[in-house]
Amino acid sequence: MNETPLLSVHGLGRSFGGLRAVDEVSFTVSPNSVRSIIGPNGAGKTTLLDLITGFTKPDSGTVEFAGRPISGLAPHKLPSLGLMRTFQSARLVPGLTVRENVMLGGYRFTRARLLSEGLRLPRTRREERSLVARADDLLRFLELERFADQDAADLPAGVQRLVEVARGLSGGPRLLLLDEPAAGLDDTETNELCDVLRAVCAGGISLVVIEHNIDLIMRLSHAVLVLDAGKAIADGTPAAVRENPAVIEAYLGAKA
Ligand SMILES: Nc1ncnc2c1ncn2[C@@H]1O[C@H](COP(=O)(O)OP(=O)(O)OP(=O)(O)O)[C@@H](O)[C@H]1O
Ligand SMILES: [Mg+2]
Repeated sequence: MNETPLLSVHGLGRSFGGLRAVDEVSFTVSPNSVRSIIGPNGAGKTTLLDLITGFTKPDSGTVEFAGRPISGLAPHKLPSLGLMRTFQSARLVPGLTVRENVMLGGYRFTRARLLSEGLRLPRTRREERSLVARADDLLRFLELERFADQDAADLPAGVQRLVEVARGLSGGPRLLLLDEPAAGLDDTETNELCDVLRAVCAGGISLVVIEHNIDLIMRLSHAVLVLDAGKAIADGTPAAVRENPAVIEAYLGAKA
């Protein structure tokens, strides 16, 4: 297992006032794998994702993606490198349809967009057609095509989460970071999501999945990182992590 990691996070940390929200966290993501991040509420999972993707500036540590340092890069630079993310609360654009929201994720593919957008040059129209086709392919893949023409804001929360996944995929990422993709989904939708994410991974896209649903984690992940109060307290296979006394204690402590 000497494979070069796709993502390497080393000693990443960030304080908010006196609170060490993420405390010197290190982990890697292997190519073609699913890495889950779990931990009680407030453990620092979302902050860790924000630090990796430039939404929050780290005060310690480094991040490398596909062999190059990405620490300090602005979030909008990352999609063109192949790194996409979703947010814990769906951030779809109200007033745009589901199809249009998905197209937004693929927008970087349009070479003509800057120069000829306003002019409606033939190339712009051609590229827009291919974005539409790409969005429709993804909506079919996620079995969302019946929602394509609806205003994204009118949809149930569970569907909006899936549309976010579609938008993340439409940028053609090598690594997609998902913050609680199953939140708001019922059991059937969660099972569907699990199948979809497995298919995505089998197609060569690695995933980082923040999740509370232990069943989903066990079925989906190759490696699990456990955070508690900002610190990484375990890192291993789903089965090993589930039996880890420190992990059991963190969860029981959180419930007490
Ligand atoms: N911008 C901020 N300013 C101050 N404190 C923050 C900020 N962002 C996060 N925190 C704090 O950092 C800690 C970690 O929060 P974070 O949202 O990363 O947790 P989480 O593991 O994603 O939790 P959840 O499972 O509830 O989503 C919390 O105590 C939170 O209140
Ligand atoms: Mg969170």
